[in-house]
Amino acid sequence: MQSPEAFYRGRLDPEYPPHVRLGWLSAEGQQTNFRVLLDLAEQVGGPLRGLSVHDAGCGHGDLYPHLLARGVGPYIGTDFMAEPLVVAREQHPGVTFQRLDLLTDTPPTADVTLVCGTLAYHTPENVEKMLERLWRVTTHTLAFIAWWDFPRGRPDTAAVRDTQHRIEQFVRRHGSRRGRNTAYGVPNEAMLAIAR
Ligand SMILES: C[S@@+](CC[C@H](N)C(=O)[O-])C[C@H]1O[C@@H](n2cnc3c(N)ncnc32)[C@H](O)[C@@H]1O
Repeated sequence: MQSPEAFYRGRLDPEYPPHVRLGWLSAEGQQTNFRVLLDLAEQVGGPLRGLSVHDAGCGHGDLYPHLLARGVGPYIGTDFMAEPLVVAREQHPGVTFQRLDLLTDTPPTADVTLVCGTLAYHTPENVEKMLERLWRVTTHTLAFIAWWDFPRGRPDTAAVRDTQHRIEQFVRRHGSRRGRNTAYGVPNEAMLAIAR
């Protein structure tokens, strides 16, 4: 599997539509994922209204308007690449965006941490490490998207199955409330949420 850095660096061409630069297959799919992820976070952890949110791996900050519509409190978006953060700051002046690597830098504390697409291309060990680090600084709800139930025969199947196993253990270890959605029309992907 290629590294996340290599994947996103390979898509930085400004000729590509913004959603393609972030690895989404379609702009509509990206928007649908936002809605389903926020619905799940609210089903598991309760209303987002008034809560602080960390958008971990925020890309262009496209999730921000969806959060505003749900009345969230303070927002911070973080990403380890400079280029998407330039777009995020242009699109959302005055909003807090910070460059950091979720695997090595201290992530911000928030009531709610959302991880939308960020786990893709990371090794099973790093997915687990990232989730553990983010959960430690989440006071309320953590919701994320992961590749799920990859069929036999794909080059990345063994890694994705290992990741899935680690995520299942992680969710069992930590969530006093838990939820999962695999039925929103995107094959081989799952949304998961845990709340304290
Ligand atoms: C699939 S894109 C999704 C962006 C945004 N969340 C969205 O849904 O539009 C994943 C983002 O996570 C960022 N990312 C991946 N690994 C990261 C890490 N270790 N630390 C911080 N950001 C990371 C990438 O740079 C990329 O912008």
